[in-house]
Amino acid sequence: MSEVDLKTRIGSLELENPFILGAGPPGITGESLKRFAATKPGAVVTKSIGVKPSPGQKLSLTRSALSEDTLVLTDPWSFKTFEQWVEKEIGVAQEGGVPVIISLQAVTDTPADDIKRMAGRAEEAGVAAIELSAFGSAPNVVTGEGIGAVQDARRTYAVAKAAKESVSVPVIVKLLPEPSNLEDLVKAAEDAGADAIASRDTIFPAIGFDIYSREPALARNIGTWMPELSGRSIKEVALGYVVEILRRTELPIIGLGGVASWQDAAEMVIAGATGIGVCTAAMTHGPDIFTQLKKGLAAYLQDQNVTLDDLRGTGLEGMERVNKRGLADLLVEIDADECTLCGTCSTVCQVQAPQEREEAYWIDPVICVRCGFCVHYCPVECIEVKEL
Ligand SMILES: Cc1cc2nc3c(=O)[nH]c(=O)nc-3n(C[C@H](O)[C@H](O)[C@H](O)COP(=O)(O)O)c2cc1C
Repeated sequence: MSEVDLKTRIGSLELENPFILGAGPPGITGESLKRFAATKPGAVVTKSIGVKPSPGQKLSLTRSALSEDTLVLTDPWSFKTFEQWVEKEIGVAQEGGVPVIISLQAVTDTPADDIKRMAGRAEEAGVAAIELSAFGSAPNVVTGEGIGAVQDARRTYAVAKAAKESVSVPVIVKLLPEPSNLEDLVKAAEDAGADAIASRDTIFPAIGFDIYSREPALARNIGTWMPELSGRSIKEVALGYVVEILRRTELPIIGLGGVASWQDAAEMVIAGATGIGVCTAAMTHGPDIFTQLKKGLAAYLQDQNVTLDDLRGTGLEGMERVNKRGLADLLVEIDADECTLCGTCSTVCQVQAPQEREEAYWIDPVICVRCGFCVHYCPVECIEVKEL
């Protein structure tokens, strides 16, 4: 098998492959970044670093019942000082041999002047890019205050501009978008001269309870902030935002949210991503995930005979095709030879179109609204939507 080219470019930063270790616990120290660099993702991102180290609230998380790759978590910014990072940790991480991106806790209350100073020093320390974390203000568990994270476009612009003024390496603006502010955030990043947009951060507030103790199902104390949701369960939301960002900018997008397999990675590129961030799945599967992701994505590209550039953003055309098809005359049919009379189609049908016959179910075309729901639930895959 010939070498498949996975090279990717984020602004002036060339990456050997599109996979980027997302900001979080895997980047909590230089050593932990080095551990993940061993399997050669395109780049690694540090845990977000504040002007001051985090006051001490520790990482607390649980595996969601939904999937092993979904987490309910609470995790503050780095417990190490910015000085420790630039004087030692960045250097240790660089020994891993892949570009190191520093994540600065930028959007909540960090003055733009501090961002300017920190970005400049980080560049001197040799980082390959600056990522400005969307770190929001989650509802405060202790005081009950706060309405959650709404990323402010003016602040986003101010910190991105400050970083751009002091460094020549790419500046990546990470988003915690909401439908109401997405447009303003993308514009703020563009106006400030950002080189790329990363989307998205976690979703919160999110919590689960043990029904017997009635306590939150987290590994330790919650601490100050309401927990967040990450990983597989946010994948479709994350993909949705990548599509919406793609429609609004030509900046490269680093898509994050729920990527745990090469299929997820391919979907991210189809949605419009140039870089593919992985945080939760790196935590649950360890560094080997990057070996699997690179191998799987390369094989897929070869099988489909496409490059990453060919694939990127093709989801928009796919959406158009599906829309056109939806306007055609459709018929939902059951293959009587394959039907096992299990009745699942009848259970999930909202209008009761499937009619039980002796040999097989039959879908009454007069009742059927052609939603295609039954197609996705038939355990033997014997239902088809046909264009007439
Ligand atoms: C435990 C944990 C801690 C995180 N800490 C940070 C952080 O410090 N800064 C940041 O920008 N994003 C942070 N994130 C968000 C991730 O980088 C990523 O944007 C998000 O989790 C979606 O990707 P995923 O589903 O692959 O985890 C954290 C995520 C997790 C799970």
